[in-house]
Amino acid sequence: MTKLRFITSGESHGKALSGIMEGIPAGLGLSVDDIDPDLKRRQKGYGRGGRMKIESDEVEILSGVRWGKTLGSPIGLLIRNRDWENWKDGMSPDSKDEGSIEPVTRPRPGHADLSGVIKYGHKDIRNVLERSSARETAMRVALGGIAKKFLKEFGINIGSYVISIGKSKASVRPAKLKEKDLLAIFEKAETSEVRCPDKKAEKQMIDSIDKAKSEGNSLGGVFEIFATGLPAGLGSHVQWDTRLEGRLTQAVMGIQAIKGVELGSGFELGRKSGSEVMDEIFHAKRKGFFRKTNHAGGIEGGMTNGMPVILRAVMKPIPTQKRPLRSVDMITKEPLDAAYERSDTCAVPAAGVVGEAMTALVLADAFLEKFGGDGMDEVRRNYDSYRKYVKGF
Ligand SMILES: Cc1cc2nc3c(=O)[nH]c(=O)nc-3n(C[C@H](O)[C@H](O)[C@H](O)COP(=O)(O)O)c2cc1C
Repeated sequence: MTKLRFITSGESHGKALSGIMEGIPAGLGLSVDDIDPDLKRRQKGYGRGGRMKIESDEVEILSGVRWGKTLGSPIGLLIRNRDWENWKDGMSPDSKDEGSIEPVTRPRPGHADLSGVIKYGHKDIRNVLERSSARETAMRVALGGIAKKFLKEFGINIGSYVISIGKSKASVRPAKLKEKDLLAIFEKAETSEVRCPDKKAEKQMIDSIDKAKSEGNSLGGVFEIFATGLPAGLGSHVQWDTRLEGRLTQAVMGIQAIKGVELGSGFELGRKSGSEVMDEIFHAKRKGFFRKTNHAGGIEGGMTNGMPVILRAVMKPIPTQKRPLRSVDMITKEPLDAAYERSDTCAVPAAGVVGEAMTALVLADAFLEKFGGDGMDEVRRNYDSYRKYVKGF
């Protein structure tokens, strides 16, 4: 069923990240300016570490676009790692450079390090950590930028904002919010260093990040992703793997350090009675069918219901910490402190941007499943005809 496929490659300190995406119709206007702003947003956020000061991500379009328009062929993207200059020998693909840097043998708790070396039979943890690093999410954000541009053509917008960092919590009630309120919250969050729309909570978040940093500790938190302008009927109830909530939550859970994803009122639904949380159905001549609440988070029976899609995701605290964590040397089996690599104290604001990208990629796929065509004009015809049909339903 999948109409939109993508794959990334690249190590954290390798030469570059690359990505290939297939399934975007011909005729979509696309330039690096559609992608780079999100790459910048991913790099920002109070609590980021030194790496983000070195990298200033910019995408290069390698293929699939000519004179500002997609060709319908696979789109190839490249993001060069500026830090590569410092790692040319240590991460060289050439066997003559083998042994130019010391192997990493102290696995970090909370990372892929130990399971990765056991599984792949490596003697150097670097062979795992370079790929398991969230540096890879820069390419996902770039590919997501293409999906966002495609969805925007049909009036679909995706955003995110931070709900909590550590114990500091913003007050936002998405179950009651309309599309324009969500967009206004998003605009407000975009002006915040922690991407939080609540000024009071923002200050507490910044203070708690400062405290964690001074203690050599780290923090996680919760962010919310929304998509507005969606038609009813994306996804399907007919099989487990066509249900849209499953596809979205897998995509967001597939981001490094994300350990839980809720849809709409999520876990809160289990604490309420049915009459409190079902989104009742109304009809008006001009609007057609509509709801006054959105506890379902815009999806019922595996399909969009026309309300905004709302997902909430929790990011665990950053595992790498200056304050030593106990580990064991892989070779000598001696107990010692885990390796420390330059690290973020908190990356929840950035993770939200990655969440937007993954949401956009899944929604663009579901949109193309329903309205797909080889060129944008064909997709537009299909979409317009469906909208007309829904209006008269
Ligand atoms: C945007 C972003 C930035 C991250 N930055 C760091 C970091 O600087 N240091 C670190 O140890 N983990 C960081 N992480 C988390 C790790 O990549 C992740 O916890 C690790 O790969 C293990 O995967 P898991 O937590 O999903 O099990 C970051 C994650 C994201 C999404």
